[in-house]
Amino acid sequence: MDTPSIARMYDYLLGGKDNFAADRNACEVLAAGIPELVSFARDNRAFLGRAVEYVSGRGVEQFLDLGAGLPTGENTHQVAQRANPGARVLYVDHDPIVLAHGRALVADSSGTAFLMADMRDTDLILGSPEAQGLIDPDLPVCVMLVSLLHCLPDESDPFGLVRDLMGRLAPGSCVIFSHIVSDDTAAAAWMTDKILSFGTPWGRVRSPEEASQVFAGLELVSPWTDGRDQGPRAVDCSTWRHPDRDPVARPKEADVKRWELAGVAFKP
Ligand SMILES: C[S@@+](CC[C@H](N)C(=O)[O-])C[C@H]1O[C@@H](n2cnc3c(N)ncnc32)[C@H](O)[C@@H]1O
Repeated sequence: MDTPSIARMYDYLLGGKDNFAADRNACEVLAAGIPELVSFARDNRAFLGRAVEYVSGRGVEQFLDLGAGLPTGENTHQVAQRANPGARVLYVDHDPIVLAHGRALVADSSGTAFLMADMRDTDLILGSPEAQGLIDPDLPVCVMLVSLLHCLPDESDPFGLVRDLMGRLAPGSCVIFSHIVSDDTAAAAWMTDKILSFGTPWGRVRSPEEASQVFAGLELVSPWTDGRDQGPRAVDCSTWRHPDRDPVARPKEADVKRWELAGVAFKP
């Protein structure tokens, strides 16, 4: 309870109640250097909803939501099952507080389960009774890596892990991805150093190029809603398939130095 947790800090930023003083204090420290921190979290969560809706519309009905986070307003199974009542969602998170709340959330929902695991334990996750009961490996799976891989240090080889996982899934599988990035090395280091100074296990803010490795071998979809396909396909999450915003590679305001790079990409 004395060490901030990413899941509880994110809950606090989204206006949730499942957080402690240490989490709130850590967010205030970060917000002093990143005034846009709250909208950052909310834009990311809204991206998750739009992306799940989009992927459901493409006919994918199995979701592996890695680093799922604490339940909030619109959770993956609620969005996916609104689009397709037959959609199935396996939530995975390594934080015990997420497990407790997550299990309560899915207790009454069919087609959903919650597994406490480290996302790096791919064999354990895919071999779990929860996955075997919900996920058919012969059908496409949507792997959700939303605001997750920056929690992993380079030593964990997060992008290699995703490559291996996607290699094991059927063609037509996809990733929903967002990652905190910066094109300013000092701004990236400031945020990384602050979070690590809390004692919270974390990875780092990466450059947009580093984060984009996740899309290697996959086909990124257009971030436009109107059929246009121009400019970058991995964009600031707040503009990905947003009905009222043109997709942009980075926020327009030059003083905003960090953002969530986001994209959805399919395995051919
Ligand atoms: C910033 S939250 C994102 C939550 C949700 N994906 C979203 O974008 O709304 C990151 C989540 O990843 C979880 N997480 C971090 N490292 C993890 C790991 N190695 N394995 C599983 N979950 C992890 C944290 O506990 C936290 O709940």
